[in-house]
Amino acid sequence: MMRAWTLIGMMGAGKTTIGRMLAELSGREFVDTDVLIQNRLGKTIPKIFEFYGEPTFREHESSIVQSLTPGPSVISTGGGAIMRQENWDHLSSIGELIYLQSSPEVLKERLRNSKRKRPLLLTENWEDTFDALFENRKTIYEKASVVINLDDIDVADAALKVYNTLIELERGRGGVTT
Ligand code: S3P
Repeated sequence: MMRAWTLIGMMGAGKTTIGRMLAELSGREFVDTDVLIQNRLGKTIPKIFEFYGEPTFREHESSIVQSLTPGPSVISTGGGAIMRQENWDHLSSIGELIYLQSSPEVLKERLRNSKRKRPLLLTENWEDTFDALFENRKTIYEKASVVINLDDIDVADAALKVYNTLIELERGRGGVTT
């Protein structure tokens, strides 16, 4: 059974954009946990937070994550998905966890320019909120089997860097490559 490639990391890390490109490069199927949650509930992520609140969002997120299976896929997760141990364990069991790492400065710059609203950052001082989340999560993200720093490269190069790293890893493990 082929192992899934699961992208983890903060909001603004490029999980969706790089995930799509990685799927394209590798011929794998692209799966986005936020999209699955939106489809299940028929609402956008901001609306889900607004109508049901974060705890309900997290319940759906966990059940979606738990339903994912091994196979030739690239899975983009919401930034908080791996904070539940059961989700981390499940995603590690079906494939590789890949941390898309960038500095908080770079991430905040991207989020500042992003059209997509992040409900967790709709606070009075979103940068402080972001910094607190980052502090809380970074040591967990860093436990991923693959950590790729993307501070100084553009998205196309980033996707290629992630792809090459994963192909190398699979070769090393004697796995099948696409
Ligand atoms: C979240 C990240 C979002 C989305 C939700 C919560 C988080 O996804 O799942 O707003 O807790 O970091 P992205 O990481 O794709 O922005």
